[in-house]
Amino acid sequence: MTDTSAAAHPHSRSCDPYLGCPPWEIGAPQPAMLALAENGELHGRVLDVGCGTGEHTLIAAASGLDATGIDTSARALRTAEEKARERGLTARFVRHDALRLAELGETFDTALDSLFLHGLTAADRAVYVDGLHTVVRPGGRLFVLCYSDRHTGEPDVPHKLSRDELESCFTDGWVVESVEATVCRSNVHAGGIAAWLATCRRT
Ligand SMILES: C[S@@+](CC[C@H](N)C(=O)[O-])C[C@H]1O[C@@H](n2cnc3c(N)ncnc32)[C@H](O)[C@@H]1O
Repeated sequence: MTDTSAAAHPHSRSCDPYLGCPPWEIGAPQPAMLALAENGELHGRVLDVGCGTGEHTLIAAASGLDATGIDTSARALRTAEEKARERGLTARFVRHDALRLAELGETFDTALDSLFLHGLTAADRAVYVDGLHTVVRPGGRLFVLCYSDRHTGEPDVPHKLSRDELESCFTDGWVVESVEATVCRSNVHAGGIAAWLATCRRT
């Protein structure tokens, strides 16, 4: 694992959720993300932001794409690397702060965000989306999966976004092509969690 986190954003130094088994850790890709790969929506160089244990990086790699996952949790990234080895897949995992994407010094054709953006403050969302604009090539696409305010089941979940809140993150330099209602799997919610899948094109 490459580690570029020496200058990590303060938020990335909070307690590592992978010391336990966090609710989003389902040991498989989220179905909405898997469907993107199966429908041929992933292209070129793929960046998986806040990749966790790498399930979505690895579906890109399994599609024969050049796949990079970044996260601040060394523990999660080690698990991701183990999964890649076990599955015979080639993917790159980098310990890097998603609020400093421009410092990667690379560009990508596709970016994936599964459950990362929704956990940021409004100010950090703006910083993050600016960074995405730098690293996603013009015409490239970003797919964002996040919890939705349509979730009413118990237990409740944090970070639920309305469709308007999600779309408002992408007013400058992006076209929101679609926002679809979907469901996220969780290891706590048997029926899943209501979610949005946004498709955004970088202008
Ligand atoms: C809710 S989890 C989602 C993980 C994975 N994408 C998934 O769907 O299973 C959010 C991830 O963002 C990572 N993360 C939190 N702050 C970060 C930051 N500033 N830069 C990069 N990754 C970060 C966490 O370590 C965690 O793996």
